[in-house]
Amino acid sequence: MKNLNLLKDLEDYIGNMRREDMKHIKHMISLNNSLSTKDFTYGSTPYKTAMTLIDSVSKKYNRFVVVGASIGWMNFYFNDKYPNIETLGIDIHRGRIRFGKSLIKKYDLSNISLDVDDLYKFEFKSTDLIWMSNCCFDRDSFKDVFNRIVDKYPEVSMISYQPFGEVKSERYNLPVSWMENQPFWVY
Ligand SMILES: C[S@@+](CC[C@H](N)C(=O)[O-])C[C@H]1O[C@@H](n2cnc3c(N)ncnc32)[C@H](O)[C@@H]1O
Repeated sequence: MKNLNLLKDLEDYIGNMRREDMKHIKHMISLNNSLSTKDFTYGSTPYKTAMTLIDSVSKKYNRFVVVGASIGWMNFYFNDKYPNIETLGIDIHRGRIRFGKSLIKKYDLSNISLDVDDLYKFEFKSTDLIWMSNCCFDRDSFKDVFNRIVDKYPEVSMISYQPFGEVKSERYNLPVSWMENQPFWVY
């Protein structure tokens, strides 16, 4: 990644903001009892892993959408390399989105946005490349979500930490912050 100051700000988030981050998690769980701390697990995927996967996508797309964007890691990587393609990140954790937005402002970036939004309510577009941060999502509900998205938007491309079921996809094993060989699937 070219912008090393921005990378350092991303890396420092959990060290500096752990208590604030946990406060938001407790608040969300108190509002919705189907959520647990597992849904808010914090982790990060390194630049090289993300770019290897993004650059393996052969279908055309004109927006890169990150679901479970956290503080926007993937969106910032993407914007750093492809500043002319729109990127949007959504997450249900307000504190992480607020922090990511402060970095967009600090570095005066364009073509990148972060919003508080929920996967289960979000309207995708057929021309999206979706990064599904679903490492901690329930497998069966993810399969339902995947089938619903592909039925409605048959042209989408998707990168996932979980398999898609029967559909044809490419499998990769690449490093992330929590393990050396995280399996990924690209649809
Ligand atoms: C493991 S983190 C994402 C990690 C990061 N994208 C990475 O790998 O670099 C998963 C994120 O998903 C978010 N999340 C959980 N359920 C969600 C939902 N229904 N819609 C959107 N985001 C959700 C959590 O708040 C959390 O920040």
